Amino acid sequence: MTLPLPPPQVEELRTGLARVEREIEKLLATPDPLLGAALAEVLARPAKRLRPLLSILGAMASAGRAVDATVFRGAAAVEILHLASLVHDDVIDESPRRSNRPTPHTIWGNHRAVLLGDFLFARALLAACRIGRACFLRFVTVAEDLVRGEFGQTAMAGVVPSVHSYFQWIEAKTARLFALAASPGREVIPALVRYGHALGMAYQLRDDLLDLIAEEEWYGKPVGNDSRRGIYTYPLILASAQAPALRDLIERGRPEEPIRRQRLKEILWQTGALVRTEEDCRTWAARAMEALTTLPPTPAREALVALAGWGGEIPRRGKDGQGNGRPS
Ligand code: FPP
Ligand code: MG
Repeated sequence: MTLPLPPPQVEELRTGLARVEREIEKLLATPDPLLGAALAEVLARPAKRLRPLLSILGAMASAGRAVDATVFRGAAAVEILHLASLVHDDVIDESPRRSNRPTPHTIWGNHRAVLLGDFLFARALLAACRIGRACFLRFVTVAEDLVRGEFGQTAMAGVVPSVHSYFQWIEAKTARLFALAASPGREVIPALVRYGHALGMAYQLRDDLLDLIAEEEWYGKPVGNDSRRGIYTYPLILASAQAPALRDLIERGRPEEPIRRQRLKEILWQTGALVRTEEDCRTWAARAMEALTTLPPTPAREALVALAGWGGEIPRRGKDGQGNGRPS
């Protein structure tokens, strides 16, 4: 997507993102050639760098002066923590692909992938520590939240959880990291923390919805992963209350098979579960925009508003590339 920014701010953002990239490379430097090669492969993947984008835009929207150097280091640390969690998540999911590339455990096996995630995790915390004690504590708390959210969801695989539990898990595993990403430096801006939190909720709802209806090549990772593992995400929780057939599809195994997936999509549309998820996604995106109203009106703030609009948007692309299965 193109952000609504005038050329000087586009340049500031571009330079800022390049600086975060250099910071990530410095933070991950190691004399160990094997580990270095694995890290190089993780860094070479196409990545949106959404969290660093939030950090820099957030700083531009709130500073009214040059962006504090701790924001760049904080942004790099957040991205490394995010990468660590994805390496581990792909092991847990047994997922073969991410960003249209083989996942680390597919290339090097589970043992090395777990250790690679541990290394990334350690370096993220080291970077936060260098910013200061308060920042370090924020990172440690968010790391604990990530684990708590992922642990809850994984532990409840095969069981339909309450909507309340679902929202607690996605808040812990996604929204808290987004909140940190929006204000990762020494100075904490409450409006940005609220914005990042709400955007994270919208983002995870969207991701969970796309896991059910997206086209794999476009999505860059396997679709139907959650239901295959027996993870009931929001649309599945909503639909299962009305359609017992949905639970059969998931619990009798292999819900990712094309015919079963098609049936699953039909149930999800018929019960209104996908429409309701889209609505909730937009509500969180609107909350994110609302959180920004206390910041001065600047191009950077408008760019953050536009990003939230994107977070709430559900692409009209489906498995066959023709649509997302929504009945006309
Ligand atoms: C991706 O979400 C995964 C997360 C948001 C968090 C994963 C957290 C952990 C594995 C624990 C924390 C680990 C460390 C090292 C701090 P998803 O599974 O919903 O999305 P996906 O479709 O991209 O897999
Ligand atoms: Mg996953």
